[in-house]
Amino acid sequence: MEVLYKNALVTGASSGLGRGLARWLAHRGCHVFAAARRMDRLEELKGQAPPNSVEAVSMDVADAPSTLATISKIDQTCGGLDLVVANAGIGDALDVRNPNWQRMERLISVNVTGATATLLGAISGMVSRGHGHLVGISSVAAYRGLPKNAGYCASKAFVSVFLEGLRVDLKRHGVKVTAILPGFVNTELNAKSKNPMPFLLQEDDAVDRIGRAIVRGARKYVFPWQMALLIGTARAMPDGVYDAIAPRLG
Ligand SMILES: NC(=O)c1ccc[n+]([C@@H]2O[C@H](COP(=O)([O-])OP(=O)(O)OC[C@H]3O[C@@H](n4cnc5c(N)ncnc54)[C@H](OP(=O)(O)O)[C@@H]3O)[C@@H](O)[C@H]2O)c1
Repeated sequence: MEVLYKNALVTGASSGLGRGLARWLAHRGCHVFAAARRMDRLEELKGQAPPNSVEAVSMDVADAPSTLATISKIDQTCGGLDLVVANAGIGDALDVRNPNWQRMERLISVNVTGATATLLGAISGMVSRGHGHLVGISSVAAYRGLPKNAGYCASKAFVSVFLEGLRVDLKRHGVKVTAILPGFVNTELNAKSKNPMPFLLQEDDAVDRIGRAIVRGARKYVFPWQMALLIGTARAMPDGVYDAIAPRLG
């Protein structure tokens, strides 16, 4: 599959979907800025990609001013980012018997603040060039408040809706926007989960699907189709029916 991007930036590139996507793009001729906090992992990734195709970028997306400044600087020095993927994210359950503000704040800082700063940091350059592609990794969890995951679901709902608004605004400026909503993927994020994970995909499979959806310029890509159908059904349920069924989903 031909990839037309020259310069791409992927956050959360030290593991899972972000690492896979950085590698996927690098093997298709992109120059990839791979961002995360664990630099040793990013150095490993460089070794797995074609020579000089990946640059490791130290970034804590929860630090919004620094994220904005770093992305803007890369955009100016590399000749312009064509693709920015806001992928960095964490999962955390919410136990309503023992709610913990620090954990919730961390979740919001990474998933909401981090994704917003990543996307915002790239907009000015793309708009001024009249060209570019912004991508955010949301989740099927964005569609309903799932049991024990109120914070995670809400953070992904933010990402999905934010991307939709950007899509509408940026179209006339020549900038494409894609929201990716994966179901369960076998990555570090849910490695410790004891919950059932229906229609679980392997990482490479998910990365390939995401890469192809980006390249074809999908507005929104919800996958796998079985999960899209399941969450679509849950989404269409009246609240009373959903409330009766939802506790069993956890
Ligand atoms: N796996 C799934 O089933 C699934 C399903 C739907 C959506 N998603 C979404 O897909 C995205 C990738 O998740 P994954 O499954 O690939 O998980 P993962 O393997 O745990 O990767 C998460 C990545 O995010 C980075 N990250 C975390 N906190 C960060 C921070 N403060 N600053 C910068 N980077 C940070 C991590 O890098 P460092 O720790 O090195 O910084 C890591 O590279 C997430 O947004 C997740 O919500 C995953």
